[in-house]
Amino acid sequence: MLSEIKSFYNRNDIPKFLEKKYKSGVGIELGVALGQYLVEIATDWTSGRIYGVDCWEQQDATVYNDPLNMSNIGSWCEHVKQRVAVFNDRVRVYKKYTVEAAKSFPDNYFDFIYIDANHSYEASLEDIKAYYPKLKKGGLFGGHDYCENSQTSQVKRAVDEFFEGREIHVMKPCSSWFLIEE
Ligand SMILES: C[S@@+](CC[C@H](N)C(=O)[O-])C[C@H]1O[C@@H](n2cnc3c(N)ncnc32)[C@H](O)[C@@H]1O
Repeated sequence: MLSEIKSFYNRNDIPKFLEKKYKSGVGIELGVALGQYLVEIATDWTSGRIYGVDCWEQQDATVYNDPLNMSNIGSWCEHVKQRVAVFNDRVRVYKKYTVEAAKSFPDNYFDFIYIDANHSYEASLEDIKAYYPKLKKGGLFGGHDYCENSQTSQVKRAVDEFFEGREIHVMKPCSSWFLIEE
């Protein structure tokens, strides 16, 4: 199934794939910001349910080194809730830290998990460890910013270390990565 994804231009092709492969499935996006990708997923995965998790809280710069780590980030939660209201119960938004939110879900629960929160090596690894058990067999697992030694992303290091030997598809340098749980 990973071979189908290999022909995709970028992550924007994923939601239609979800609709085709995971009818009435359930997914989660970790790191929502202003809801851009969450809305794209919900728009094209018309039969799916999707959770969005974000702390929407300014963090210590030593923990979260990202231009988005701004003092007004707290106001984005309400903005996102309004944006996704049109999807009714198909989209649920949790204002929580990702690792904490993982405790709300049983193992083998999600068809699709997309990690796009804190891109430090440590946080990326923690998110992978917390959410990989939550993926169903046959599910699609991935995330954004698979970059090496970028100032704000060490996702590649965490992914390569955790999934050593597994087939990972990277859409293009410093873009989304995906694997399918066989
Ligand atoms: C790159 S943005 C997400 C962009 C979004 N996925 C999109 O494509 O439209 C990263 C978001 O992750 C959130 N974040 C960072 N660390 C987090 C953590 N440990 N738990 C929850 N959210 C976190 C930030 O608040 C920020 O809104």
